[in-house]
Amino acid sequence: MTPEELEETVGGFQAATIILAANHAGIFGALCTAPMGSAELAKRLKLDGRAVATVTDALVCLGALEREGDRLRVPLALVPALDRSSPATHANALDHRWYVLQRWARLDSVLETGEPIPRLQEDEERLRAFILGMADMARRGAAALWSAVDLSGRAHLVDVGGGPGELALAALERFPGLGATIFDLPAVLPIAREYAAGRGLGERIRFTAGDALRDDIPACDAALVSSLLHSYGQDGVRKIARHVAAGLKPGGLVLIREFMWDDEAHSGPLTAALFAVNMLSGTPDGQCWAASELQEIFGTAGFGGWKLSRLDPRTSLLVGLRQV
Ligand SMILES: C[S@@+](CC[C@H](N)C(=O)[O-])C[C@H]1O[C@@H](n2cnc3c(N)ncnc32)[C@H](O)[C@@H]1O
Repeated sequence: MTPEELEETVGGFQAATIILAANHAGIFGALCTAPMGSAELAKRLKLDGRAVATVTDALVCLGALEREGDRLRVPLALVPALDRSSPATHANALDHRWYVLQRWARLDSVLETGEPIPRLQEDEERLRAFILGMADMARRGAAALWSAVDLSGRAHLVDVGGGPGELALAALERFPGLGATIFDLPAVLPIAREYAAGRGLGERIRFTAGDALRDDIPACDAALVSSLLHSYGQDGVRKIARHVAAGLKPGGLVLIREFMWDDEAHSGPLTAALFAVNMLSGTPDGQCWAASELQEIFGTAGFGGWKLSRLDPRTSLLVGLRQV
């Protein structure tokens, strides 16, 4: 990295903070509904006039807003991502990132103490932003996942730490003979139920409250473990592997979808390194894992026959079989 690149990288926080704060304050939401001037926008959102004028000037210069005469509007190409009512919305994921930014700004304290900044789950609004944000991200990843894995012929999928359950819902839509259970902590299930309502999946989708560190997952012939293992250290991942193995029939599939390190020396990719810092700031022992480490841990719990693939530049998929 050159000194110039260092300066440019460090300056990136400014644009990110402006966009995340504008989303959180409802600026994009309001302008997706109707173009308006900054004074009217400030009045409608009960925000400070000077602050809204200054921030929207910056958003226009960034290309995240456009001017149409005196009025501000969201560029057409960004409306699907910024309008909360759009099926492709990313607004919840941006809310989640806003909360993550608060933690990242306290990385100095994590460096001193090694202690995470208090967890998102302690606050209902943040939990909601987190779970719905996961749905925004999973909608983009579901097609790649279910193109890589064929679940036709499987009877029941358990989505372990399923969150909003978007990946399981997408599987049900793709594989007509399949049923699924979203298995997650009790506080998450009302949000998951609400999220699944209206998808018309009826009895094919079930919800089970449980803690994968303590409870066996429900009986199934396929288990999806997506973006869960990075929340825990060795001990936690070993417990989860045992509880997944206990619910899976012999010959059943485990699908581990994670941001993984390329190797145990942690030589890349950068996305895994950044995500590991995220887990450092938010959990006592969360981290990114290398596929070889997960194979060893799940192997000890009774899995084998591994296949590793890359679903997108950030996300890997490790598929294993519950041994007889
Ligand atoms: C990052 S989200 C991933 C959601 C979803 N699997 C996906 O990939 O979009 C992690 C989920 O795991 C759940 N979770 C964390 N620890 C858990 C545990 N011990 N038992 C069950 N669920 C857990 C969280 O509540 C959250 O819904």
